[in-house]
Amino acid sequence: MRFEESLDKLAEDMRALLKGAAGSKRIKITDLTPRDGQQCKLATRVSTDDLLPLCQALDTCGFHAVEVWGGASFDASLRYLKEDPWERLKRIKAVMPKTKLQMLLRGQHILAYRPYTDSIVRKFVERACANGMNVFRIFEATNDFRNIQVATKAVKEFGGEAHVEVNYTVSPVHTIERWMEYAEQLIEIGADWLSFKDATGILRPFDSYRIIRGIKERAKDKLPVLLHCHDMGGTSSMSHLMAILAGVDMIDTVMSPLSFGSAHPATETMVAALQNTPFDTGIDLKLLEEPARITRQIKEKYEKFETGYTGVSGDVFIHKIPGGMISNMVAQLKESNRMDLMEAALKEVPNVERDMGYPPLLTPTSQIVGVQAVLNVLTGERYKMVTREVTDYVGGKYGRPPGPVAKELVKKVMGDKEPDYSIRAGNLADPGDWDRTVKELGSLAKSDEDVLLGVLFPMQAKDYLSSREAPKA
Ligand code: CO
Repeated sequence: MRFEESLDKLAEDMRALLKGAAGSKRIKITDLTPRDGQQCKLATRVSTDDLLPLCQALDTCGFHAVEVWGGASFDASLRYLKEDPWERLKRIKAVMPKTKLQMLLRGQHILAYRPYTDSIVRKFVERACANGMNVFRIFEATNDFRNIQVATKAVKEFGGEAHVEVNYTVSPVHTIERWMEYAEQLIEIGADWLSFKDATGILRPFDSYRIIRGIKERAKDKLPVLLHCHDMGGTSSMSHLMAILAGVDMIDTVMSPLSFGSAHPATETMVAALQNTPFDTGIDLKLLEEPARITRQIKEKYEKFETGYTGVSGDVFIHKIPGGMISNMVAQLKESNRMDLMEAALKEVPNVERDMGYPPLLTPTSQIVGVQAVLNVLTGERYKMVTREVTDYVGGKYGRPPGPVAKELVKKVMGDKEPDYSIRAGNLADPGDWDRTVKELGSLAKSDEDVLLGVLFPMQAKDYLSSREAPKA
């Protein structure tokens, strides 16, 4: 859709609105505070004990769903909080009888950095549903949708609601037409919702309108469409409003104390903005006071985990690097006592991104690109050292890269061989993962849930499960 054409459509939409022809359309809201919100702003360090009062308060508000799990929450629970993530899910479920619980799932990678077999993906989804999970946001960072099909089918089979995601980025290979092709592929997968996601916060308002309008035209009545958009560039509330004018059905928000910047627009802001309009969310602002108060307390208690990269940063339109990725690069350089290389590392990011065929920068690809960019400047020679993750990526374990991978990099990683991207990542998984983990954990694993912890996070799970055996002092 050309820009002029999109303005024409906008005028048409506005006229329909004036005539009341659009009718009233309730915009649904999913609140992300207990997962994405605290992950962006407080490094996922909030304990389950501190999350429970918040979840209880959010349960009364009337959200479509509340996101409570996924992303970094497993890793952080085991590594830092010494908590069982499955236990977190069960405890949250107990205090949220009215609202659907949501998690983020990295398709064939589940929650980790390598692909797993179809049977492990299915087992994970089955146990998540059995323990109370309802809504699954399913994605693959490279937008290779072969890697979300097994998970989507499993979610439907075990009674969950499947939201399939396409990840936004800006690059020479990502045109408006490409987003429409992706949307057409996603519509065919058999999910319940289509999620358009900007994990960085670089989507601009008029692009938001053009893309969402185009997706809605294709999705028609087949499935509703939602926007998940971070705010690093500061444009997110404008982009959300434009998406709403373009017909989006749901948006994702975070309670105000942890909102905007690296996170999302505030729940209260969007509810207020839409109140008494045809897009009224139906959510009572008064009901949001209590969860906002608790979120403020959480923010104060966990302030020490806030990094300097959680606010709006105009640079993001140039380097496209999400906040979490910058903090990791800083940590990596600090460890080597080479903070003087930070600027060079930031400049190297777009080069690595180009060499890897322009993957959207969100976990896991953001971390893979960031670590490699830092290595390239630390060693003083590009790709002198290549991480296992970059090797796996070039070999197709993260799906088909969106654009061509640089010849120099392929040669470095694979020698004279060529990667075969016709093979799906799930077929490159290690079929021995489950049995090996069962053997390694032995009597430490009491359930399939314990084994899944070991499959996904071998070291952290073993430490956690061993400490669980130790007699309490
Ligand atoms: Co997000």
